[in-house]
Amino acid sequence: MSNPSILILPGDGIGPEVMSQVERIIEWFGDKRGLKFDVETDLVGGAAYDNHGTPLADETMARALEVDAVLLGAVGGPKYDDLDFSVKPERGLLRLRKEMDLFSNLRPAQCFDALADFSSLKKDVVAGLDIMIVRELTSGVYFGEPRGIHKEGNERVGINTQRYTESEIARVARSAFELARKRNNKVCSMEKANVMESGILWRDVVTEIHQAEYPDVELSHMYADNGAMQLVRAPKQFDVIVTDNLFGDVLSDCAAMLTGSLGMLPSASLGAPDANGRPKALYEPVHGSAPDITGQGKANPIACILSFAMALRYSFDQSDEATRLEKAVEKVLADGVRTADLMGPEGGSPVSTTEMGDVILEALDASL
Ligand code: NAI
Ligand code: MG
Repeated sequence: MSNPSILILPGDGIGPEVMSQVERIIEWFGDKRGLKFDVETDLVGGAAYDNHGTPLADETMARALEVDAVLLGAVGGPKYDDLDFSVKPERGLLRLRKEMDLFSNLRPAQCFDALADFSSLKKDVVAGLDIMIVRELTSGVYFGEPRGIHKEGNERVGINTQRYTESEIARVARSAFELARKRNNKVCSMEKANVMESGILWRDVVTEIHQAEYPDVELSHMYADNGAMQLVRAPKQFDVIVTDNLFGDVLSDCAAMLTGSLGMLPSASLGAPDANGRPKALYEPVHGSAPDITGQGKANPIACILSFAMALRYSFDQSDEATRLEKAVEKVLADGVRTADLMGPEGGSPVSTTEMGDVILEALDASL
């Protein structure tokens, strides 16, 4: 049997800097854990535009559809700000999401004890927090028709339409239930069934899928406004939250900030599972290309490294190895190792991107 395949797209700005640490970690798993991957690297975003005049070449798109997982660094930067919309770096990422049909966006909010002081909430509210927000990514009010601004009498009217089909709700619900089985078997679905018909349908379909296919998973429902309150009041009551595109956009940003720095936040976007149950998948840090610190060795590689941990868990069925990597990150943070973005007001001496990679590899060695 051939090795699982990974397409690495480092992209722009700090993308290649943080991704080079991930490449070392992928090698480590091959050498020390016998987990060999077939890795290929290609261009996306401004880097692809510079070489091919397009932010994503057709051949790269074709490979993304063939491999088992795509890892992406970041795209964009001031150099490309004046480009025509059609060739902007972001278009490369949007094309990947669209053609891979990545309808399920996974945004974990995980609080490492050593960083609990970074949260704007009380330490005991967030210490040990580990929740996952599943946001529907390809439908809902950002895409529904009719939309636009038109004139009615002597004033303008703006319209967007929240529209969900049964099958769109069902597939993201399945994605959340599958995830819950790999975690703590608990899903909370959020909508506004009290005031929106699309919310009533959402609740009905999630309930039907649950009863028919995932009765072993604990399911609850919550109105999304209450969900927002509960997320800041007592976030540890949740495990997996599944919600629509609009509520998910807001709730996932809110949940992410419970835990502190942008340099720490991974994400995954999943599509339909293949015959072996393996979903199309793109893993990327939440942060952008950080032009203000590019080329200075200051970037925190942890968001990108934790994105690879998600790939281990959700694409490669290697939950134990994913946990091993997450524990290694936890260990170095507990030891007080910090990149510049994790420095408190009291300061200290930050490590570089490569040094953070070094200590995480040491912690991995120590885990054997
Ligand atoms: P950004 O996330 O690149 O940076 C925001 C701030 O956080 C900056 O001060 C940056 O130095 C810091 N930061 C981000 N990641 C960090 C890390 N790993 N370690 C340490 N510090 C980190 O967002 P910004 O500045 O709004 O956008 C910069 C460029 O990135 C733009 O061209 C934007 O379009 C693009 N972008 C790309 C994304 C993607 O590829 N998915 C997402 C967000 C922005
Ligand atoms: Mg957002």
